[in-house]
Amino acid sequence: MSYDDSIGQVAQDALRYVRKGDVIGLGSGRAAAALVEELGRVAGELRIRGVPTSLQIRLAAEKAGIPMLEPGEASHLDSIFDGADQIDSAGYMVKGGGGALLRERVLAGMAGRVVIMADETKFVERLSRPIPVEVHPAARSLIHERVRGMGAVPRLRTLERGYPAFTENGNIILDCDFGAIADPPGLAARLRDLPGVLEAGIFERPDIIYRAAKGGAFEVVHTLG
Ligand code: A5P
Repeated sequence: MSYDDSIGQVAQDALRYVRKGDVIGLGSGRAAAALVEELGRVAGELRIRGVPTSLQIRLAAEKAGIPMLEPGEASHLDSIFDGADQIDSAGYMVKGGGGALLRERVLAGMAGRVVIMADETKFVERLSRPIPVEVHPAARSLIHERVRGMGAVPRLRTLERGYPAFTENGNIILDCDFGAIADPPGLAARLRDLPGVLEAGIFERPDIIYRAAKGGAFEVVHTLG
């Protein structure tokens, strides 16, 4: 059984957090897609509605038959279900591997409960993956220089053939390698403070974290009560 199969098991279990009539944030990536597949089976009966964080998950949700609201239409979500690229021992996360970090964080901020589903390879003592930073194209050189000044090695995210990868908001992403990060919230605040930075892919600790092992086993780590 692969990690993908285990995430499928997690997605089934995560339905325990869904109630009749809920408005649910749909994260992006494979874990979120697995959740959407499960949600599709109960969406009609429970009369739930989804709010997508990206076109990727919108398409998956449409296919699963989940009625959808536009992101700007809702001011509160009952829950959001999402994946993560890396999770440290305190529960801080690197997100934005799929480029959807801006909407993912907006929707997480609207949610009564943030549920993260990830396989065990994503768990580390300290965050160390390059941090995705969404930047307005006009601020490309400025932010490049500023993050270098902060000790990072920035790399413009590109598509396979070298073209810049634009986000759904028309921005670019600099993946900024800071090495091991001792103070994730402090670094996130400094990055978000730079002019032209729309979002930084260091996310607050979620309410619930699923940690999936191979073979279908998983554990639930509650970080915030
Ligand atoms: C999307 O921008 C990311 O934040 C994803 O949530 C993250 O990359 C996890 O994706 P997987 O579930 O595909 O690993």
